[in-house]
Amino acid sequence: MTLSKTASKITATASSTAAPTPKKNALVVGSQLNKTVQVGEQTLSIIKDVNIHVNAGEFVVIMGKSGSGKSTLLGLLAALDHPDSGSVELAGQTLSTLDEDALAVIRQREMGFVFQSFHLLPTLTVAENIAFPLDIARRPNKVRVDELIEAVGLSHRRNSLPSQLSGGEQQRTAVARALVSHPKIVFADEPTGNLDEQNADQVMQLLLDLRQQVGSALVVATHDAALAKMANRVITMHDGRILSQ
Ligand SMILES: Nc1ncnc2c1ncn2[C@@H]1O[C@H](COP(=O)(O)OP(=O)(O)OP(=O)(O)O)[C@@H](O)[C@H]1O
Ligand SMILES: [Mg+2]
Repeated sequence: MTLSKTASKITATASSTAAPTPKKNALVVGSQLNKTVQVGEQTLSIIKDVNIHVNAGEFVVIMGKSGSGKSTLLGLLAALDHPDSGSVELAGQTLSTLDEDALAVIRQREMGFVFQSFHLLPTLTVAENIAFPLDIARRPNKVRVDELIEAVGLSHRRNSLPSQLSGGEQQRTAVARALVSHPKIVFADEPTGNLDEQNADQVMQLLLDLRQQVGSALVVATHDAALAKMANRVITMHDGRILSQ
């Protein structure tokens, strides 16, 4: 599929997506989450009594001022970081009871990640970066990798290193990598924050389109109000708390 066809398809699908299913079917449930950090002598509370859920296949945007706790909350939901209290469940499994090895397997198999600063492995090519989650899970799948390279419009760049790519090309690689293993959920933290408007639109449309094909839920922390309009649900954070969801 060409990029422009992808773009028009997602514009059509995003606005016609059904309302989220009720909370009892939630894929991710964060309950009574609290997180503090130590800054010198001071203990700062940066996530305060947060209750949050994400349904299977749902597209949720988290908005809020800089410093309101969006990235911290994403880190807790993805079990990249531990809460001081409270729990996170993914598909009914409580993540805080698992050791680091078990969490790493869940992240590889069930989660995809897209970060503001791309986070590609610098010594691997585009094709190798996209294949990486499958390769470390010992489930290589060349057909799937080729399909995604084409979907993100990088067939001509498959053997390039990240340092040889533009920002938009790097982020399209990261989007393909995030979806390659058909994750249940993709976490994206300001995925378009380092891109110009045209590249930002293209990357977001690809992310939305590919996750729709896979059926993954998507949680995006962003300042982009246009993106919020496309979401199933917008969660607003202020000073470590959820104001509305
Ligand atoms: N390791 C840390 N040590 C000290 N303070 C921290 C740490 N991590 C986060 N904070 C503080 O916690 C608050 C929430 O940070 P967080 O990065 O989650 O905000 P954010 O909403 O993602 O902001 P932005 O929109 O700028 O990305 C901020 O005040 C930040 O300074
Ligand atoms: Mg942030």
